[in-house]
Amino acid sequence: MSPFLLTRTLPEDATDAALRADVLQGLTRTPKTLPPKWFYDARGSALFDEITTLPEYYPTRAEREILQTRAAEIAAVTDARTLIELGSGSSEKTRHLIDALPSLHTYVPVDVSESALTGAANTLLASRPALDVHALIADFTRGLALPGTPGPRLVAFLGGTIGNLLPAERAAFLTSVRALLSPGDALLLGTDLVKDESVLVSAYDDGAGVTAAFNKNVLTVINRELGADFDPDAFSHVAVWDREHEWIEMRLRSRATQTVKIPALDLAVDFERHEEMRTEVSAKFREDGVRAELSAADLKLTHWWTDERGRFALSLSVAG
Ligand code: SAH
Ligand code: AVI
Repeated sequence: MSPFLLTRTLPEDATDAALRADVLQGLTRTPKTLPPKWFYDARGSALFDEITTLPEYYPTRAEREILQTRAAEIAAVTDARTLIELGSGSSEKTRHLIDALPSLHTYVPVDVSESALTGAANTLLASRPALDVHALIADFTRGLALPGTPGPRLVAFLGGTIGNLLPAERAAFLTSVRALLSPGDALLLGTDLVKDESVLVSAYDDGAGVTAAFNKNVLTVINRELGADFDPDAFSHVAVWDREHEWIEMRLRSRATQTVKIPALDLAVDFERHEEMRTEVSAKFREDGVRAELSAADLKLTHWWTDERGRFALSLSVAG
């Protein structure tokens, strides 16, 4: 028997229905888009973990530096008994927080990736067998039904994953997080910061091609789940800096004119040569913008910490 509780708040057929709806909607509009949450099957989660070790991909190292430096301060300010982590992935950096929180009783990692959750929970429990781990397979954009756990509660959303939501999605998401917080609870938010374009583009277009493989993995997911016949080699990986929106956009560019069949949707999708489909935005932030977005969701920023080189920020906020 598993030493931790694993709860699926979305039945598997609901996940399937959500993928169908997203693919149908995204591939029948102009320009075509796909939401980034579908990157993360077991292979996509492993590819993301590989990205975090690449020389070009600084956000993980920068955020780890802040967590290492500030974990004791975060622990003193929040005194959390429950840590809820959204989009927890491998939970690797979170260890700094978990180990610093003296009163921590329950850890609730929330992710769409079952493989990431089970891997993280098993690794964590090998060294912290007394921790109550309640892993949740759930989509954090779809309203969170969290287990009743002891307060104070700290909700962590690390890695800069908030930047993968579009502005309107971020506003709705922050409002739903605010609704989870009681007096004494807090939100710890990781945001990647605006910086030199060349640094940003390299981080999303690495020399070893791991980000390209991660990007194309969404096609493999659609092939497997919906019986589609995408040829990943018929698309190239593109990463561009959108100066107006201050986000990196990942795209897949069709190398040729082609038609892709998606039998589960009874759909044939035409791509023109060099047509680009957006697969992810990764917004980069400034302190004022983060403060304003939090404030619009009735959250008050109380602390702002960056790494030594000012590349990434962690902020702490409480109910307004
Ligand atoms: N927090 C980790 C992992 C970041 S990768 C870190 O900082 O390294 C983004 C994680 O969010 C992945 O594990 C992915 O499966 C998860 N994720 C993406 N969209 C999600 C959604 N809508 N709901 C729940 N989890 C999501
Ligand atoms: C998970 N998220 C914060 C990553 C990012 O940097 O936007 C996903 C990623 N996409 C390409 N590389 C990493």
